[in-house]
Amino acid sequence: MPAISASAPGKVILFGEHAVVYGQPAIADALLEVEAKAIINPLIQGTPGEIRIQAPSIKLDADLSQLPIDDPLATAVRNVLVELGIKAPPPFKLRVTSTIPVAAGLGSGAAVSVAIIRAVSAFLGQPLKDARVSAIAFEVEKLHHGTPSGIDNTVITYRKPVYFIKGKPPESFPVNESFRLLIADTGILSQTRAVVGEVRAGWEQNKNRYEKIFKSIGEIAEKARELMTSGTGIASYLGTLMDQNQYLLQDLKVSSSELDRLIASAKEAGALGAKLSGAGRGGNIIAVIEEPRRSDIEDALYAAGATGVIATKVFGGSWGPLE
Ligand code: PMV
Repeated sequence: MPAISASAPGKVILFGEHAVVYGQPAIADALLEVEAKAIINPLIQGTPGEIRIQAPSIKLDADLSQLPIDDPLATAVRNVLVELGIKAPPPFKLRVTSTIPVAAGLGSGAAVSVAIIRAVSAFLGQPLKDARVSAIAFEVEKLHHGTPSGIDNTVITYRKPVYFIKGKPPESFPVNESFRLLIADTGILSQTRAVVGEVRAGWEQNKNRYEKIFKSIGEIAEKARELMTSGTGIASYLGTLMDQNQYLLQDLKVSSSELDRLIASAKEAGALGAKLSGAGRGGNIIAVIEEPRRSDIEDALYAAGATGVIATKVFGGSWGPLE
């Protein structure tokens, strides 16, 4: 069997994080500038069923059989074997690498899962369809997040703009006009499980207030979808919607002084609007920008403490359905 590799992009949530966990719509897109990669080589001297997993960035180098039941990488591999009904696969070594910042709201966990699921199923001669890849990655997400909405594994599997409501079939939608984003990292780890848990605790104490906030966030995501589908000259209006979404995220207490500082600096330097992206507290902000202001805004973000800035585009296109 030849060596096989598969990759998966990062992701960026444009609108609707947190509220999406409570049934509101959210919009996300793939972030193609970063990726996770899974490379599989047969173990020529190995015995059937022997699987070695290496992930140098987390200093992992172990046999699958030694890894705990809740190890995310091992779970991705084990779930593919179960899905394919294979008990003793030909021996192989799986090496995982990633350029996606970890715990930064850019989907690194889901991307690693998707890359592994694709590579292992292809190596075993039965490449899985996207819907199965996403479903298996969702199971692994539960280990990372506890109660994930499923948006990360969906957008990362399909690599297209996605309109997502938890528990419903995800939809893609046409994007009328490309627009530019800058993504800037606070360098502070964002612990999705903890932040999602704190929002839940707040919601349990004051359901009325939290549900009003979630609903308002959902309305913003809805407006953004309409605008992205059929609007022209949309960047500035999208920026305004991002600002409104950010105020609501502040009400949910998931922003932080570092995130707020990056957002303010981007806007002072000419960004059309900005918000945190992902679970918050740390991780990344996104800002809608126009090309002529790009380098000024990048400079301002670094001056305000950003540890990394990625320039990307949400591409216009008719994006086919998710199948
Ligand atoms: O994995 P992150 O940090 O991008 O967060 C995911 C977005 C949340 O809405 C906060 C959680 C979820 O499961 O949708």
